[in-house]
Amino acid sequence: MACFRKAGFDLCRQLSRTLSSSVNSFALRSHSCGELRAGDVGKRVTLCGWVPRIRKLGKKGPLFIPLRDSYGITQLVVNDQSDNEVSESLASLPPESVISIKGFVAKRPDSMVNKALSTGEIEVQVESVDFVNESSIALPFQLSSTDESFPVHEDLRLQHRYLDLRREEMQRNLRLRSKVSSAIRHFLTSLHGFVEVETPTLFRRTSEGAREFLVPTRDPEKFYALAQSPQQFKQMLMAGGIDRYFQFARCYRDEDLRADRQPEFTQLDLELSFVDMGGIMNLVEEILAHIWRTVLKEEEPLQLPFQQMSYEEATNSYGTDKPDLRFGFEIADVSNWEDSDLAVRGIRGNLSAFLSREELEKLVEKAAEETNVTIGTMKWNKSQDSLTIRIGDTECSMSNTTFGLLASGPRDKVSRLLGRIRSLIGNRLSLTKNVDNELTTSDAGKRKYEFLWVVNFPLFSIDDEGGVKSTHHPFTAPHSSDEALLDYDPLKIRGQHIDLVVNGVEVGGGSIRIHDADQQEKILRDVLKVDATQFDHLLRSLRSGCPPHGGIALGFDRLMAVIVEAASLRDVVAFPKSFNGRDLLTKSPSTL
Ligand code: AMO
Repeated sequence: MACFRKAGFDLCRQLSRTLSSSVNSFALRSHSCGELRAGDVGKRVTLCGWVPRIRKLGKKGPLFIPLRDSYGITQLVVNDQSDNEVSESLASLPPESVISIKGFVAKRPDSMVNKALSTGEIEVQVESVDFVNESSIALPFQLSSTDESFPVHEDLRLQHRYLDLRREEMQRNLRLRSKVSSAIRHFLTSLHGFVEVETPTLFRRTSEGAREFLVPTRDPEKFYALAQSPQQFKQMLMAGGIDRYFQFARCYRDEDLRADRQPEFTQLDLELSFVDMGGIMNLVEEILAHIWRTVLKEEEPLQLPFQQMSYEEATNSYGTDKPDLRFGFEIADVSNWEDSDLAVRGIRGNLSAFLSREELEKLVEKAAEETNVTIGTMKWNKSQDSLTIRIGDTECSMSNTTFGLLASGPRDKVSRLLGRIRSLIGNRLSLTKNVDNELTTSDAGKRKYEFLWVVNFPLFSIDDEGGVKSTHHPFTAPHSSDEALLDYDPLKIRGQHIDLVVNGVEVGGGSIRIHDADQQEKILRDVLKVDATQFDHLLRSLRSGCPPHGGIALGFDRLMAVIVEAASLRDVVAFPKSFNGRDLLTKSPSTL
């Protein structure tokens, strides 16, 4: 067998000088397997790729090989008469072996044209073959199955990710991700003067919010903490005069995992000096519109500006701070007992037109489990085609045909439960492609991407132990009109914080920051009751003439998952952690 690397060295240098097509530059091929057309007939070519399982038809007949690379498939024809030995070796190659061939492009007979392939009008008559790397392990799964019917368990895909990545879907996702990030870089650096700065991931432990991963050092008493976000560094960059910063930042959080969470993930992190919330919203909207225009080339341009909704309205009408506005079924009060924590609330709309009673009951049970709400009773009201749920002892005192589902009990539990039921209904219906105009009871719906800014979050909320915590992080500035409440009613203060939500997914969060060191120290010490000295670096930078500033971070994996309509972040990350935080490919974490 030919030694490819030595033989190819000079060839590579010659080819890369003469080639114009960018995916072939610097490579040991003249063309990819996806680019030859009828206009190339007669050309001499060098192709490289994987061979599938080959079946030889008849003893003396030609061998047809659909040679595949990441750009497509080109049919090779090896005539047995030309070299019987090569033909035999090819026929016995294990699938996914790599070969390189030289040959010339020929037109296929009209009756053999394959319209399903972009290269279907031609074939390559092979003159010589290099057997570059024979695949020598039993493949855990076949790559020939079409993506839609790919029946392989995700764990097996993750264990052999290098093979899984060869699939069309993963190729599409990762290549699109690269295009999107490069469009963002161009937009920010070339058009708007942003500076890309890398900040440390080996950081120190501070009470910023999420749980951190710790990294031991040579000193048994000292630990790094992996940065949960570049938040403090980007603020110190503002103090340092890098007044328009961005970074595709790796972040690390030791949290309970879900389909939309990875312990290690990427943010498009942004910060600007001398900006207000409107400026941050405009910036993000323009970045997204640029992606939609230049990369996705969607027929329907993004509608700017995005709508805004207060946190209060979101939780009241949708039972969540990340409402999916692609469909209606809003939540509303049926009755609310004054001065009482109890409420009867319902989901508007005729649910029974889309879901059977059993399906609806299953969704309710799933939502109850996910939200930790214990349901008392469930009753189907036949005359009104409506399901009634009781949490605790409260009777549902009223019902009304405008509600497909009613729930009574403590107000926050009822809202949380109904919010989750609503989004499960949404998932169900969008999976079955049932979300259509009929379902949309609000004016808002119907678009493929429903972006929404959620504003006016409370600056502080109550943590599990009954203490006060920051709703987002401790550096968010209060609304200036609420500042006076700091001393006597901090829970009533609204933060200058915004969340960006699309189709029910939180894809970003940002705020105007506190730039007054005294106010920052007071909030840390008196409201949050944390040791302010751990933030000395930040406080000193604020005291050194730090310009007022604000910014935002977009969850880049989440954004990509929404764009490619992936069910999990794992489908847009090359080497993700599994649902329980393990890397099944390298078997990490491991014992030392
Ligand atoms: P926040 O914590 O809201 O803000 O994070 C910003 C965005 O990052 C994404 N995200 C995640 N994506 C995948 N896996 C995770 N575990 C994960 N956690 C968060 C979300 C989220 O909206 N420093 C602030 C930003 C700022 O104030 O500028 C921050 O990190 O899409």
